[in-house]
Amino acid sequence: MAPRPPRGSRPSAPGKAVTKGPGERELSVRVKTASGRTLSSTLWLQRQLNDPYVAAARREGYRSRAAFKLLEMDEKYHLLKKGARIIDLGAAPGGWSQVAAKKAGPSGRIIAIDINVFDPIPGVEIAQMDFLEADAPDRLIAMAGGPVDLVLSDMAAPASGHRPTDHLKIMALCEAAIEFAVNVLAPGGSFVAKVLKGGTENELLAMMQRHFRSVRHAKPKASRQDSAEAYVVATGFKGLSETGD
Ligand SMILES: C[S@@+](CC[C@H](N)C(=O)[O-])C[C@H]1O[C@@H](n2cnc3c(N)ncnc32)[C@H](O)[C@@H]1O
Repeated sequence: MAPRPPRGSRPSAPGKAVTKGPGERELSVRVKTASGRTLSSTLWLQRQLNDPYVAAARREGYRSRAAFKLLEMDEKYHLLKKGARIIDLGAAPGGWSQVAAKKAGPSGRIIAIDINVFDPIPGVEIAQMDFLEADAPDRLIAMAGGPVDLVLSDMAAPASGHRPTDHLKIMALCEAAIEFAVNVLAPGGSFVAKVLKGGTENELLAMMQRHFRSVRHAKPKASRQDSAEAYVVATGFKGLSETGD
């Protein structure tokens, strides 16, 4: 999750940021450096104030700009169906869960977990847990009480600034999510997980290709172009009996 703006932050230019809408960026608010504010927090604040997705999320009642990444992937891959049973891993503050709950409707079921506590979302069952704890997958499977249609993972550990370490951490989360998905998905189910640009590592990709009819990489427009983030989208889960696992 993005850090909160530093206290007392104020754009230097009067008036509101003028944005053209998601996808069309126009820098209109500059933030003065202030004593006590680091350069990185000044740049972060400037980016937030000029980010059309941040503005659109606020306008449309989403808790995070990340909501638009899932909306874009859903538009392309038709992931979120009415009545679907969905598990959202690394869900806080809840943008993806909000989108999932809206699309699945009252007949759907959404289970969302995060290592951090986050506020309730109507129509979403929330649990706080570290997905990397040994018993987390079994606890979640018990919560679901049966196969699900979609496993989403936007999990990301806080960036350390050391690229190789961050890469290893994100791939460990992705790998744990794939293993979980294979054990909980109903045949025909789908899986979406955050990876890093350059794609999923060969071994993971091979495993996914064995279990899903289609595996693609996506870089939604709402995913910042300067970030190494990307997503793997796997659809058409074959079911464990078909793959012989
Ligand atoms: C990019 S944010 C998710 C944003 C979310 N998809 C949304 O739409 O609001 C990544 C989340 O992964 C969570 N996370 C990281 N490691 C985790 C772990 N081991 N178990 C559970 N959640 C984890 C973080 O706490 C963070 O909230």
